[in-house]
Amino acid sequence: MVNTTIKTTKSQEIFAAAQNLMPGGVSSPVRAFKSVGGQPIVFDRVQGAYIWDVDGNRYIDYVGTWGPAICGHAHPEVISALHAALEKGTSFGAPCALENVLAEMVIDAVPSIEMVRFVNSGTEACMAVLRLMRAFTGREKVIKFEGCYHGHADMFLVKAGSGVATLGLPDSPGVPKSATSNTLTAPYNDLEAVKALFAENPNEIAGVILEPVVGNAGFIPPDAGFLEGLREITHEYGALLVFDEVMTGFRIAYGGAQEKFGVTPDLTTLGKIIGGGLPVGAYGGRRDIMEMVAPAGPVYQAGTLSGNPLAMTAGIKTLELLQKPGTYEYLDKITKKLSDGLLQIASECGHEACGGQISGMFGFFFTGGKVHNYEDAKKSDTVKFGRFHRGMLERGVYLAPSQFEAGFTAIAHTEEDIEQTLAAAREVMSSL
Ligand SMILES: Cc1ncc(COP(=O)(O)O)c(C=O)c1O
Repeated sequence: MVNTTIKTTKSQEIFAAAQNLMPGGVSSPVRAFKSVGGQPIVFDRVQGAYIWDVDGNRYIDYVGTWGPAICGHAHPEVISALHAALEKGTSFGAPCALENVLAEMVIDAVPSIEMVRFVNSGTEACMAVLRLMRAFTGREKVIKFEGCYHGHADMFLVKAGSGVATLGLPDSPGVPKSATSNTLTAPYNDLEAVKALFAENPNEIAGVILEPVVGNAGFIPPDAGFLEGLREITHEYGALLVFDEVMTGFRIAYGGAQEKFGVTPDLTTLGKIIGGGLPVGAYGGRRDIMEMVAPAGPVYQAGTLSGNPLAMTAGIKTLELLQKPGTYEYLDKITKKLSDGLLQIASECGHEACGGQISGMFGFFFTGGKVHNYEDAKKSDTVKFGRFHRGMLERGVYLAPSQFEAGFTAIAHTEEDIEQTLAAAREVMSSL
């Protein structure tokens, strides 16, 4: 059933030319496949659960443009809404009624959000939220967790996940010490470490920011009581709790991790899904905090393309599609089938592996035991993962090209897609 001799000549030619034009041949590091070896495939088009490369090969896609494609790529209703919006222009740089529509949808959905500001990326949202945390509390230090990724702004490039973890970079050159001197880190799922940081830095910590379910060090869910514990500690010390839901927002539940786990942070960052595949980000939260943002308040933050009508349109349509009854139950069902199947096959083929899923987000590591944090994740056999990744690619399955990235399903994935994926996984795992 599977084709293990795919031809990728055109991909190779295009990527070779790209290396002369762009650093590493890419516009974002993980795309270069450095940690899994081999060459990236160059995409030509995407539709539903599938992508086609420039050589005409089709793959079942579990990256979903790193999260936004939860309805499947190029959903006809999103595309048709975009066509209509395009006729009216691409950017206004002025208020637009579509912003109100998406803002209301976000406020209705996400428990912590009473007011929202739209930006152009998750990175921007996290940069802005940090400034706001500091302004509101009058404190400068912030706690982040090892392996969590909050975009590529200087102050977050400390023990960061995603591409930084994938490429094994300690920190990035060019980040001045002064930019990170107020960034404290703790291992994920370690409440005692967080308590110790608060005790050591009394009245100095503005707040705690985290991925409530980690996706950027691989998929790591919070231990029972971890999110609740953070909520209590931050209350106790008069600090803010910020959930970076750029990845988990509208993915693990319509209202994100805060709905799923019943823990309400003070502020939340969003991105990916709320732009339906167009560049977007957002931050929002308690009204008393958000009213500090300019021009309502003194905390400056702005953007030429922010709230632009195309991103708003794609976001609105995507959220409308997600509101259909049964969406998250379906995502949970197919993703569980995939995740359980992968672990079962790994075990039958004699590989140590662990992993899991929540709704449309999943991951597995080639390591035994449970992964609670980034240190555990790093014990994975990344060489084996690289071989697995390549084998899956050759059998028409596109997985994130890193052991340290979560996978994503879409409502466009069918049971048959999952079965084909598992059949491919069995072939590859038995040959590793
Ligand atoms: C949790 C989280 N925060 C922030 C970001 C940065 O978002 P962007 O890539 O849109 O700048 C990402 C990106 O993957 C993310 O997963």
